[in-house]
Amino acid sequence: MNFKSIGIASDHAARDLKSLIVDYVKLHDIRVIDFGIGSDTNKSVDYPDYAAAVAREVSDGKLEAGIAVCGTGIGMSIACNKFPGVRATVVWDDYSARMSREHNNSNLLCLGARTLNHHRAIDLVKIWLETRFSGERHQNRLDKIREIEKKNFKPH
Ligand code: RB5
Repeated sequence: MNFKSIGIASDHAARDLKSLIVDYVKLHDIRVIDFGIGSDTNKSVDYPDYAAAVAREVSDGKLEAGIAVCGTGIGMSIACNKFPGVRATVVWDDYSARMSREHNNSNLLCLGARTLNHHRAIDLVKIWLETRFSGERHQNRLDKIREIEKKNFKPH
């Protein structure tokens, strides 16, 4: 497994999938920090609040990686990628899960609870956790993304 500790967050649309992922990740001796949404609430929430909670920790280097789930994974990925150093990737099949690590060195996995069968989603978590970044020319490309981030970050 690539990571020793992982933060996990979801909105209301992905509460059940988040629970499955938390159970799966814990089984593999990975420390899990759960940023909600809690399983005891049925209220509708705003996914950016939960995305920010986990992505901030990854961006600050307090957590190695994160997983963020919502209806499609898309909103979570948009919000998480606003944080410097975060490479949040929506994946939908084995190939995209593998490539997100091998080529993109994804440090934040985004999944759609309404677009994926939940057992398939766990397969994708497994691939993402097990696949290593291949480095070399791909590191060069990630360095360019970091440069874009630095040049375009406008503090408010
Ligand atoms: C919530 O209804 C839904 O919009 C959210 O879970 C997510 O899919 C957004 O990208």
